[in-house]
Amino acid sequence: MKKGFIIGAASALLATVVAWIAKSRLDQAQSTDLQAAIKATRKVLIVGATSAIAQETAKLFAAARSEIFLAGRDEAKLQAVANDLAVRGARKVDLMVLDLNDFNRHPALISRATESLAGLDTVLIAHGTLGDQEAAQKSFAFTESELKTNLLSYISLLTILANLFEAQQYGTIAVISSVAGDRGRQSNYVYGTAKAALSTFTQGLRGRLSRSNVAVVTIKPGFVDTPMTAHLKKGPLFVGPEVVGKGIYRAIQERQDVVYIPWFWWGIMTVIKLIPERIFKRMTI
Ligand SMILES: NC(=O)c1ccc[n+]([C@@H]2O[C@H](COP(=O)([O-])OP(=O)(O)OC[C@H]3O[C@@H](n4cnc5c(N)ncnc54)[C@H](OP(=O)(O)O)[C@@H]3O)[C@@H](O)[C@H]2O)c1
Repeated sequence: MKKGFIIGAASALLATVVAWIAKSRLDQAQSTDLQAAIKATRKVLIVGATSAIAQETAKLFAAARSEIFLAGRDEAKLQAVANDLAVRGARKVDLMVLDLNDFNRHPALISRATESLAGLDTVLIAHGTLGDQEAAQKSFAFTESELKTNLLSYISLLTILANLFEAQQYGTIAVISSVAGDRGRQSNYVYGTAKAALSTFTQGLRGRLSRSNVAVVTIKPGFVDTPMTAHLKKGPLFVGPEVVGKGIYRAIQERQDVVYIPWFWWGIMTVIKLIPERIFKRMTI
């Protein structure tokens, strides 16, 4: 009797394990098929699409015959980007003009993009401002507006997108953070604060969405020669936006977690983070 019970229980356990392995193999195969299909023809929302870095990334999506929805606040610039992407091979390009600090319009943006492209599997959020640190030190209102643009607008968009992608169980969300978020520097700690919080937010979100087959890619560029840095003296560490665009495109294809662009910034930031605070606080970098 006892022996029969043990054999029965062992068989049931074995059957459960075999069924579980078979199901996870099937899920994996289906997910791989889905990812391959998405890679082939993406339905992409690009937020902050007039950014130099976003434009370079968008060109690669267009060349891969993606369907693209652009969001930005400058209608003429946005239309010019849309025309360029259409010429470069995008299967479809549509756009919506909005100030991204108008959080009330974020749900409408995501619904319009989803309707226009008949679905959404990829998002790049790229807008931002590199506000003057001294101005922020003199005015909380200025600091607040910087944090609104560089952090809160991202969190608002990510909250909606995370729920959408979690429900559909596929997709990739890429967000441009910065190496500036890796350590607070006296010369730009307001911008750095926004990027640090954004990196932490996306890290947590990545964990949550990994259970739903959704990738969250945190992009950390170093110095990039774009309108944002036009006022800065250019040194050897600067790269063009096309280098970063290529890195972002690859990171999205590979569903990477965190990517430093160019890669050597990982080494630079590792060293910078190791500098003892007693010394670091005296460094005017
Ligand atoms: N350049 C760098 O060295 C560097 C390094 C690390 C990270 N990043 C990040 O990379 C991203 C792209 O920057 P970029 O270098 O490509 O600079 P960029 O060419 O100056 O682009 C910034 C974009 O943000 C848009 N924007 C700002 N506030 C907005 C708002 N309230 N509503 C709508 N759009 C708004 C701007 O729109 P308008 O054209 O209408 O002004 C512009 O298209 C940013 O998140 C930035 O923080 C840049």
